[in-house]
Amino acid sequence: MQSAAIPGREIGVFDSGVGGFTVLRELRELLPQARLRYLADTAYAPYGNLSPEAIRARSFAITAHLLARGAGLVVIACNTATAHAIEALRAHWPGVPFVGTEPGIKPAVAATRNGRIGLLATPATAASPRLRALIERHAQGREVVVQGCPGIVDHIEAGDLDSQALRELVERHCTPLRAVGVDTALLGCTHYPLIERLWQAALGPHVKLLRIETAVARRAVDLWVPAPGSQPALQIETSGDPRALGDWVERVLGWRGPDVHAWQPENAAP
Ligand code: DGL
Repeated sequence: MQSAAIPGREIGVFDSGVGGFTVLRELRELLPQARLRYLADTAYAPYGNLSPEAIRARSFAITAHLLARGAGLVVIACNTATAHAIEALRAHWPGVPFVGTEPGIKPAVAATRNGRIGLLATPATAASPRLRALIERHAQGREVVVQGCPGIVDHIEAGDLDSQALRELVERHCTPLRAVGVDTALLGCTHYPLIERLWQAALGPHVKLLRIETAVARRAVDLWVPAPGSQPALQIETSGDPRALGDWVERVLGWRGPDVHAWQPENAAP
């Protein structure tokens, strides 16, 4: 059950790193008047290689920080954290509305013509019981080929969106999907739309690629109740190197001079 929205000073958004910017980008478009705080847990990326316990521990530390800073809504802009932590977060903070990010199995079922769907995700998402349950609930007899894609997020975090090595890795992860002839593929990690062209090239022009960030941002818009008098702002924080993240944001997203601060759980201000 989703909690009712509570008025808050800001919307807290987090991901292991830069992937959640694909959700934040949509949120900024839809809610230009909102106060947004984005936390990139860069020092611990990729989450896709962490254990479920470690993913939950990171998600708890980050959520505690976002709430302490006045978040009235928390957007988990990460499929991997959603898969392994959203239930525990909701149980721990029952009064807080959380918006998760999960592959759109239902839209894929509606889109496929041949009944074969591919799902590209991080290794931890691919192995999660929550994803298995989601597929069982919504696949309606369609075949869903789940492909864990180790290595992709590392390239994107490093600012590599187009190297030969990345193309080869994408090619390799798409081979099983091509082998079964999927006509629809889900980008089940928020980093993956940043290299959408590479997935499309590897899968072929006839395969329909589906992404989820717009739906996630719309859900956040539906739930958001701003506190009176809150002013629009964007704060970006990272557990990694703030300057490197600022450069990445400028270069890839074209956002000018973003305000990026260092964050560690122990120095998180109440
Ligand atoms: N962007 C995240 C996701 O949607 C996490 C990727 C990672 O850190 O492995 O799954």
